[in-house]
Amino acid sequence: MMPATSLTLAPTGVGRLHCHHFDAGSCHSCALIETPYRQQVSDKESWCREILAEAAPQLWLPSFVDGMAEFRNRAKLAVGGSAGQVTLGILDQEFHGVDLRDCGIQSEAIRAVTPIIADFLDATGLEPYDVSARRGELKFVHVTAAPSGDLMIRFVVRTQHGLDVLRSHRTALFDAVPTATVVSVNRLPEHKAVLEGSEEEMLRGESLRMNLDRVDLHLRPQSFFQTNTDVAIGLYNQVAAWVDSVAADNLWDLYCGVGGFALYCADSSRHVTGVEVSEQAIESAKISAGELGIDARFLVGDATEFAEEHLGGRAGDPAGLERPDCVIVNPPRRGIGARLSTALEDSDFEHIVYSSCNPVSLAKDLARMPSYTVEQARIFDMFPHTKHLEVAVLLRRRQ
Ligand SMILES: C[S@@+](CC[C@H](N)C(=O)[O-])C[C@H]1O[C@@H](n2cnc3c(N)ncnc32)[C@H](O)[C@@H]1O
Repeated sequence: MMPATSLTLAPTGVGRLHCHHFDAGSCHSCALIETPYRQQVSDKESWCREILAEAAPQLWLPSFVDGMAEFRNRAKLAVGGSAGQVTLGILDQEFHGVDLRDCGIQSEAIRAVTPIIADFLDATGLEPYDVSARRGELKFVHVTAAPSGDLMIRFVVRTQHGLDVLRSHRTALFDAVPTATVVSVNRLPEHKAVLEGSEEEMLRGESLRMNLDRVDLHLRPQSFFQTNTDVAIGLYNQVAAWVDSVAADNLWDLYCGVGGFALYCADSSRHVTGVEVSEQAIESAKISAGELGIDARFLVGDATEFAEEHLGGRAGDPAGLERPDCVIVNPPRRGIGARLSTALEDSDFEHIVYSSCNPVSLAKDLARMPSYTVEQARIFDMFPHTKHLEVAVLLRRRQ
């Protein structure tokens, strides 16, 4: 098989990533791949600054850019082909499998394990799910790689039969991939355009230890984690530096997921509270906090309801959630919305850090908080070769 990608990157970052799947027209996921990488970043900067023009950030820090190859820590591979000859990658318009096991944006550990997973699935004899005929078993394989090289491998199948067969063959996978510390099977019986169902059976382990530079996070099968580990580390460190610079003693991390921001910001003199809807993510955050021995509370709940309920804070309130002097928000693409932005606008919180993967919803939310000025902004190129980006801003309440 031809190598998928060849890297022509000069030290200045003017190069571009070449991909034979893109050139052949068989995969268009990296829509901007033909644009030199430095140009991609400068185009995103222009677009993002335009969208946030009304918010008028006082200072744009240099964009945080890492590699343009092997940056993804998670692959969501559709299973195609036939029993004994599966493909792992995407499905084309006729729902035929396109094998992307050599995809150049996936981390080295994912590229190395994908052919082994394909061999394992071939040996089970299970049929890939046929979307047109609505028959067959194997739908997707999700692989997540930790910096240590440890892996979480999740199979998404249609029926209990698929689950039983994978369970009965599991030792072969454990032997072939000793770094797979978490293995599970997810059942998605419905014919739906989604990547996983709600039922998950663990075959090995419980959570993948994501050993970042200063903090170990714990990812369970359905937990969110930023897809680009090195850029996520840059983002967490930037936000921690902002929180230190405003000397926040009491911090809220809303939409905290498995706790990345809260755990990077926690220190012996700072009280940190994380809020998140996913119970599993909160369990993981608590494990990390325990390992670090830090003073952090993680609560399951809706971010908006939590903020409204504790707005203004009060000494001695039942949950002991003193008024924060800084609030971090990192919502899904839809943003924090009218209710939470209004609650923050009506609060007397001194600082807000807003990290967003959607500048359009960020701009709308900022327009609802005119009492805050955007002191600093920084783009994090979390998703090279696509138009997507992460942007974080530090807000200060106007005097
Ligand atoms: C962009 S992720 C951020 C996660 C985390 N800050 C991180 O860096 O990994 C958004 C998170 O918000 C959570 N979420 C979605 N809706 C929510 C809500 N209404 N209240 C609280 N958390 C919510 C999701 O489960 C997800 O973990």
